[in-house]
Amino acid sequence: MGGSFADVVLSWYDRCGRKLPFRGTKDPYRIWLSEIMLQQTRTEQMSEYYGRFLSRFPSVEALAEASEGEVLKYWEGLGYYSRARNLLKAARCVVNDHGGRFPADAALLRSLPGVGPYTTAAVASIAFSLPEPAIDGNLTRVLSRARGIREDVSLPSVKRQLEQTARELISRERPGDFNQALMDLGAGICVPGTPDCASCPLMPQCSAYKEGDQEALPVQPRKVPPRPVHLNVLLIFSEGRVYMKAREEALLKGMYVYCLSEKAPSAVLRGLRVEGAAAPAGQARHVFTHRVWEMKLYTCMASAVPAKLKPHFYTRTEMNALPVPAAMRAAKALAEQILLEGGNA
Ligand code: ADE
Repeated sequence: MGGSFADVVLSWYDRCGRKLPFRGTKDPYRIWLSEIMLQQTRTEQMSEYYGRFLSRFPSVEALAEASEGEVLKYWEGLGYYSRARNLLKAARCVVNDHGGRFPADAALLRSLPGVGPYTTAAVASIAFSLPEPAIDGNLTRVLSRARGIREDVSLPSVKRQLEQTARELISRERPGDFNQALMDLGAGICVPGTPDCASCPLMPQCSAYKEGDQEALPVQPRKVPPRPVHLNVLLIFSEGRVYMKAREEALLKGMYVYCLSEKAPSAVLRGLRVEGAAAPAGQARHVFTHRVWEMKLYTCMASAVPAKLKPHFYTRTEMNALPVPAAMRAAKALAEQILLEGGNA
């Protein structure tokens, strides 16, 4: 038994690597899309989004021609919507600045909107066979254990050490497979908490296994809990329609929400010059990375709405065609029910 780190990892990958829908292609567009999607969803859940997205936008040209609203709609439910907006910007960049071809160059890939060090390395290695280590959470865990990196992996000096280590270990012949092998090891065997060391091809050479401290690695910084924000969600109905507006704030920018405010619903209605009273209709909660929305839901059957607000009212069918974030799931279900009960389309 033995072999170099890369040989061991690659022969394990050939026997035990996962068969995933985005593998078996060298098309940088497909690889880039899969890597962006995988940053926010598990491989099992992402296949459906990936398939739907590719049948609507089969090429970077097709994506570049889309509207932001439509791209957001195809992203609905995945979260981190700035990724979808950057996806569109990057597609337009590839078409306008690179003649419709993804550049086979790490620095040029890195210059595309939304493409950070991880995505650069993933696309460079998988699509173009460039020896760039794609250091995500999985690689961080596998490498810190295998090579005994016992300092906080969020520190810049430790990140540099990890990258240096990965650059020394990566296969020059099959860098994409090497990266994906470590991702698969990290996802199935070298998992957080208690890893399955008995099944791991790296066990004979693993520092953490030897020292017995695999459960303590990688050393992570303390997590800051998300800050609670108390919001009133006001569903305003008028003539079989409900009020919605695209967010302008960075969080959920471009996504459609109901009337959200920290102010009392009566004050919000007054501010909008809507006639009617708000009635409590339950609560909901949504956890973002740095925030928790603690929401109180209200409904208002408006008896009069100012003319300039009218374009912001949508039928049930129109509402369902808009990109609506998961944070609005409970509110949207309530809006649907009320619009349906009203006998509206
Ligand atoms: N997670 C993100 N990208 C991946 C890939 N290419 N293979 C396996 N897991 C991944």
